[in-house]
Amino acid sequence: TEQDKPWGDLHGISIVISAGGTREPIDLVRFLGNRSSGRQGFALAEAARERGASVTVVAANVALPLGEGIERIDVETSQELGAAVKAAAQTADVVIMAAAVADFRPETVAGHKIKKSSDSGLVLTLVQTEDVLSALVASRREGQVIVGFAAETGDGAADVLEHGRRKARRKGADLLIVNPVGEGMGFGDVPNTVAMLDARGEQVGAASGSKLAVAHAILDKARTLVGA
Ligand code: CTP
Ligand code: CA
Repeated sequence: TEQDKPWGDLHGISIVISAGGTREPIDLVRFLGNRSSGRQGFALAEAARERGASVTVVAANVALPLGEGIERIDVETSQELGAAVKAAAQTADVVIMAAAVADFRPETVAGHKIKKSSDSGLVLTLVQTEDVLSALVASRREGQVIVGFAAETGDGAADVLEHGRRKARRKGADLLIVNPVGEGMGFGDVPNTVAMLDARGEQVGAASGSKLAVAHAILDKARTLVGA
């Protein structure tokens, strides 16, 4: 197979992967965060490196080691992540946005630790962050492949795939990897099952199994799109 070639089937291809979850500061000691571990992004990075790609990972608060030969840029906030990914993307053939990027951040960051006052609560004003994936799509170079992720649940309005299709059309990424979370999706009970959608919302692939198996399937699909 291609993977048995000495150089690997991704030799000569440069891939940037964001992983983990951003933290948006509230004050000097507190932040708004999320539960993303970074495992899927790191699995993608290690799979791509194994296959000979040149790999840069932009890691947002990931407490995991990364294999040798992979460039790692550690970031904390959505703004730092956006800046690092956009800079690295300028020379990348493939950009994969596997990170959970905060949708909102506190409008202001207190320069001191916020104190309790009497028995009242606290109201934070949040503003939207930049949509990094959409910005990458808007500045995409000829032949460059942009991949997004979407964890979705079904609800009264639409099922997982329909939510995924709408997001795929809205984002315009070359591939959107839709991952059902929660229950009642009709995807079966395999730990990781994803559907791959193109920018029109058409399903162009599927994968299930370990995070590493899913990573290889995503790289297979992205590889067919490079330079297309
Ligand atoms: N993403 C991004 N910048 C953001 C938010 C999300 O680049 N500020 C990226 C994620 O890394 C992911 C994709 O966009 O690859 C989809 O993220 P998701 O949270 O599913 O989509 P949203 O557009 O934020 O929509 P919502 O959370 O409302 O479903
Ligand atoms: Ca979001």
